[in-house]
Amino acid sequence: MAIMNDNSFDQEQLERVMEPSGRRDEYRHDMNLRPKDFSEYIGQEKIVKNIELMVKSARMRGHAMDHLLLSGPPGLGKTSLAMIISQALESEFFVISGPALEKKGDLAAILTNLGPRDVLFIDEIHRMHATIEEVLYSAMEDFRLDIVMGQGPAARTMQIEIAPFTLIGATTRSGLLSSPLRDRFMAHLHFDFYHPAELCQIIQNNAVKLNVKMAEDALDKISKCARGTPRIANRVLRRVRDFGLVEGCDIITSSEVEQALKLMEIDQQGLDRMDRKILQVIMEYYQGGPVGIDALCATLSEDRNTIEDVYEPYLLKEGFLLRTPRGREISEKSREHLQKMEY
Ligand SMILES: Nc1ncnc2c1ncn2[C@@H]1O[C@H](COP(=O)(O)OP(=O)(O)OP(=O)(O)O)[C@@H](O)[C@H]1O
Ligand SMILES: [Mg+2]
Repeated sequence: MAIMNDNSFDQEQLERVMEPSGRRDEYRHDMNLRPKDFSEYIGQEKIVKNIELMVKSARMRGHAMDHLLLSGPPGLGKTSLAMIISQALESEFFVISGPALEKKGDLAAILTNLGPRDVLFIDEIHRMHATIEEVLYSAMEDFRLDIVMGQGPAARTMQIEIAPFTLIGATTRSGLLSSPLRDRFMAHLHFDFYHPAELCQIIQNNAVKLNVKMAEDALDKISKCARGTPRIANRVLRRVRDFGLVEGCDIITSSEVEQALKLMEIDQQGLDRMDRKILQVIMEYYQGGPVGIDALCATLSEDRNTIEDVYEPYLLKEGFLLRTPRGREISEKSREHLQKMEY
């Protein structure tokens, strides 16, 4: 099926973008611990309230729900929530990853395959190529694709109607979205790190799913060392389960949790090896800062996006790192923590 003058689409391409191989295992692996509906989805109350209202209204109108942008650091539940929304709407759920789209035709093929009220989830939407992104503008606003046929003076524009659908975009960096794209989302909801009490509840629920008995102090310990992130809490829980199983414990106590955290190189403040390395490099190479982000990333041999999206948000929130006009600095809290860690 020829979709665009310069791009043709085949089934293999569609499969590639619809199920990006790099994340396929993650989806499957996480599946049994993913909350299945709103009742299992803990915390983020304001977001959930907004969404429940939007879902109810869409169902009453019998129409597609408004397009929705979910933003926030990794592992806080954006994908899980998108799946729950689609289920509550009783619609089909399609997942694609922004960077996996290579051509306009990839996206056009997906859009023309959607049915009325289906949910299209685009993960890492800020990493979608700018020319591909343009396909979304008329699709989101008028449920229409504008397609240019031919080249030069002979070029003609053709319009294709598509089914009214809901786009849910997820991004770790909403600031990197172009304004035409951002403006087409009717709701923009930002995720924050979870409180330890909410993480406790999540771990408790998942311990039941994994058939693990946890003592109160063990729950408490994991919830305080999980960087405010359910994905990390689940990771620690799985490791703790392994410990319990291998050592034949009937009930997991804080001692098993401590061993698991040590093995995972997570410290008392919930920082992992990379978190500490970032702070340590600023302290030792740059005398505590300020240091520009590019120089810091070069010293760490790390990609700037990873540092900014994955590590910095928590370090900033907890006051380990400071962002100043002249660059990143470490705080007194960091110095004390690193000294305690005996570096
Ligand atoms: N509110 C929540 N209640 C219960 N469990 C949650 C919640 N949020 C996240 N989780 C758990 O954390 C895991 C990671 O969440 P999810 O994959 O939805 O995060 P994400 O925001 O999409 O991350 P990324 O930005 O890396 O794609 C889920 O599999 C689920 O088990
Ligand atoms: Mg996700």
